[in-house]
Amino acid sequence: MRINKVLVAHYSSPSGQLSEVIRNLTSPLAESGDIELRQLILRCKKPYPFPWPILRFFDTFPEAIYLDPPELEPLDLDPTQHFDLVILGYQVWFLSPSLPTTAFLKNPTVKTVLKDTPVVTVIACRDMWLMAQERVKELLSACGARLVGNVVLTDEAGSIGSFLATPLWMLTGKRGPRLGGLIPRAGVKAEHITGSRRFGERIAHALTQVQTLNTNLLRGMGAVKVNTHLIATEKAARRSFLAWGKLLRALGKQGAWARQPLVMIYIVFLIVLLIVVLPVSALLKTLAAPLLHKRIAAQRSYFSQPSGE
Ligand SMILES: Cc1cc2nc3c(=O)[nH]c(=O)nc-3n(C[C@H](O)[C@H](O)[C@H](O)COP(=O)(O)O)c2cc1C
Repeated sequence: MRINKVLVAHYSSPSGQLSEVIRNLTSPLAESGDIELRQLILRCKKPYPFPWPILRFFDTFPEAIYLDPPELEPLDLDPTQHFDLVILGYQVWFLSPSLPTTAFLKNPTVKTVLKDTPVVTVIACRDMWLMAQERVKELLSACGARLVGNVVLTDEAGSIGSFLATPLWMLTGKRGPRLGGLIPRAGVKAEHITGSRRFGERIAHALTQVQTLNTNLLRGMGAVKVNTHLIATEKAARRSFLAWGKLLRALGKQGAWARQPLVMIYIVFLIVLLIVVLPVSALLKTLAAPLLHKRIAAQRSYFSQPSGE
């Protein structure tokens, strides 16, 4: 029997959630005698901190949104190597792929390796991944890769609960819960992480049965769930990040002293936005939902591709 070669790449952050997801999801592939699994852990020359100092955290968004790649440690990857499938795990940073992921997808060797290769993306994030996946789709298509599946795991606290819980986890290093459960535990539910094994089982099965992987790979498995309430919010927030990011990038590189006062002003702007604008826009969206039924259904179908809900 032919041995299938699978490359699994992801950035292992010090908080480590995505690594857990990848370990569980790929375990059926690792256990299969017919699959040769190659793990590639992305590491940056200048590591990102954890917990994040608050200014460093927000000072990361201009580069994230403009897809400015940081320098990665050399990748142990041969450009002539062929893989039957690439599994790319990534976190979302400011509605964009995490910066090490951007660096990976822009790397010339990776571009060669990904050409004409089926790719499954695996996302573990708070709850806002739609715009990030659009960027990843663009970067993959620039490599000539074929996206055949997408798996998304989001925080158990939901959109509202995780709004404070996840940033607090990133800024303090502690997941919570806090204030007697008023602020719930941050991160993806443990049973959803272990449950991601089922996607690996399907992939392992398909690799040994199907000649070429296609977009049916993860259909009907509930691999993604599109929160349609967040589509307009993500689009508006992305526009805001682009505008503020342009200003900040004009003032210097990430970490430059000249940027810090504007980063502080941006944090205040964000707090006002969250307290005033978001509740009003959520109310308007709820009221308008019955009128936009068809459009919302089309958007749901678009963003859920290729796995489907
Ligand atoms: C700088 C930064 C920005 C983030 N921005 C987002 C975001 O825009 N959307 C989202 O759903 N999660 C966001 N998150 C949460 C991450 O996607 C992820 O859930 C978290 O980093 C935990 O995963 P990890 O342990 O694999 O790093 C952000 C995290 C960081 C550190």
